[in-house]
Formats: sequence, C-alpha cells, structure tokens
Amino acid sequence: MESAWSVRRGLYSTSMPKAVWQPQELAQDPHSRSDKAAKVRDMFASIAGAYDLNNRVHSFGLDQRWRRAAVRMAEVRPGDAVIDVACGTGDLTELFATSGAGSVIGIDFTAPMLDIARVKSAAATPKISKATSSTPSDSTATRPARVCPEYREGDAMALQLPDACADVVSIAFGLRNVSEPTKALAEFRRILRPGGRLVVLEFDEPRNGLIRAMNRLYTHRIMPWTASLLARDRSGAYRYLPRSVETFLDRDRLRAAVLAAGFSAVDQKELTFGTCVLTCGRIATR
Ligand SMILES: C[S@@+](CC[C@H](N)C(=O)[O-])C[C@H]1O[C@@H](n2cnc3c(N)ncnc32)[C@H](O)[C@@H]1O
Repeated sequence: MESAWSVRRGLYSTSMPKAVWQPQELAQDPHSRSDKAAKVRDMFASIAGAYDLNNRVHSFGLDQRWRRAAVRMAEVRPGDAVIDVACGTGDLTELFATSGAGSVIGIDFTAPMLDIARVKSAAATPKISKATSSTPSDSTATRPARVCPEYREGDAMALQLPDACADVVSIAFGLRNVSEPTKALAEFRRILRPGGRLVVLEFDEPRNGLIRAMNRLYTHRIMPWTASLLARDRSGAYRYLPRSVETFLDRDRLRAAVLAAGFSAVDQKELTFGTCVLTCGRIATR
C-alpha cells in the first residue's frame, strides 16, 4: 500500500511550475472571476503534498482544534449520516469518522487532495482497531467505533446525492473557495433532513482592531512567504489565501446567506480571537 508520505512526495515533485494567481489578478476580487473554479482546483492540486504540514505549522497546531470544535458544534447523534464537503485531505472527515456517526462521506473536486485523504484513511483504520482491541481497560475502549469514510470526487454546487439524505453537512475552509457559495448552501439545504445541521468553519477578520492588525501582518506579510517556501509553491496559493478571506463574506453576511438558503436558525462561535468563525445552520424538525 502507498504511504501518505510517498503520495505527498510524488505530488511535491510534480508540483506545478507556473503561477495560478498573478499579482494583478489578486489586486481584484478573486471571487468575481469566471475562471475561479479552475484556478482553485489547479492551486489545490499544486499544494496538496504540503497542505497538511502547512496547516499545522502556520496555524501553530490550532487547525485540528478548530476542526474538533466543528465536530462538537454538529452534535452528532449515533448513526447520523455526515457529508463533509470540500473535504480536501480529509482531516475533518476523519474526525467525524470517530464521532459516533453511522456513515461519513467526504467530497472534493481536486483529485490529488482526495488521494492523500484516502491514504490517510487507510492508514488510520488498522491503528484504531488495534488500539481498541488490545487493552479493553484503555480509554480508547470507550471511544465510539470508527466508520470508514468514503471519499468521492464531486462538486459542492451539484452534489450527486438524493434530497434529505444527511443529518450533518460540514464544510471547513471550503465555502470561500467555491465559485458560487449561495448555490452550494442551497445544495446543503437540499440534502439535509429535518433536524439536520450545517457546520461551516471559515476564516474571518478579528473584530478587535489591534488583533486584526497583528493578524493582517501575519497573514498578508509573513505567512505567504514561509508557506510558499515550505510547499515550494509558485501557484500563488498563499497570496490568494489572505486576499480570499478579506474579500469573502464576513460572519454577519455568512449568517444572512445561511438563513436565506432556508435554514431556520443560525448559531455562531468565534475561535482564536475571531480569526475563525463556526457557523451552524439548523433545519427545523417537522
Ligand atoms: C482549504 S481546502 C479545505 C480542506 C479541508 N476541508 C480542511 O479542513 O483542510 C479547500 C478545499 O475545497 C475544495 N473545493 C473548492 N471548491 C470546490 C467545489 N466547488 N466542490 C468541491 N470541492 C471544492 C478544494 O479542492 C480544496 O480541497
């Protein structure tokens, strides 16, 4: 079986030599481009090999904590069907796999990101079952059983899933990258059952002026250099990242968009001084 490292190394060595985002394109609003979807896919294909490492390093290890908060907000019930959209390399999908859910599907439109997710998932399966079976008194014995996620290639704006098939839909750092977020939100509403929950984890700009200034210095001036170096990236992905955050819906506009998509109630929770926000939309029970 291929290891996650060999898949990553292969992606590293074939990383795209050309720029996906030109500086003058990022001076405009990247979300208004008609070729946004193609650029986003090319960009993630080129950084897939170093994506997880960059996340851990540049969030100072907080990214997995944010994803765990997303799982808590989803209030998964035993047997729930979870769909993790724009799942990328599967970090959030894998957390849902051990949440007590009955089934978990991860969907993304960038094949190299899914390749890594599948390898990580295959590596996680034997490790967890060995841990749970060897020492019954161990704390792992009380952990909910892991379901094996299914990873599928697909588009957030046209999910190949029936109406009302899911209890939880999640999207972490993905909605901002979708070319028409309102279309995606309508799809999430369509596939959720009565009582279902949508959890959106997304970056935002902190409300406190001093923290916002410090965050901007880090995300606009430091991180693009260090992350590009780490990923050996020339696609411009890490210059697109802060630009795509500042030009995307802030938490208030996101709340309004979720309500407009037909969700009956929306809760929000700030994470790490408001650099990230969790938004949970609920479907009324009949
Ligand atoms: C920043 S990554 C987030 C990955 C993952 N959710 C995480 O927590 O790390 C954004 C992902 O969104 C995916 N994406 C963007 N637009 C998409 C679309 N229309 N349909 C499916 N996936 C999409 C990209 O391929 C990429 O893997």
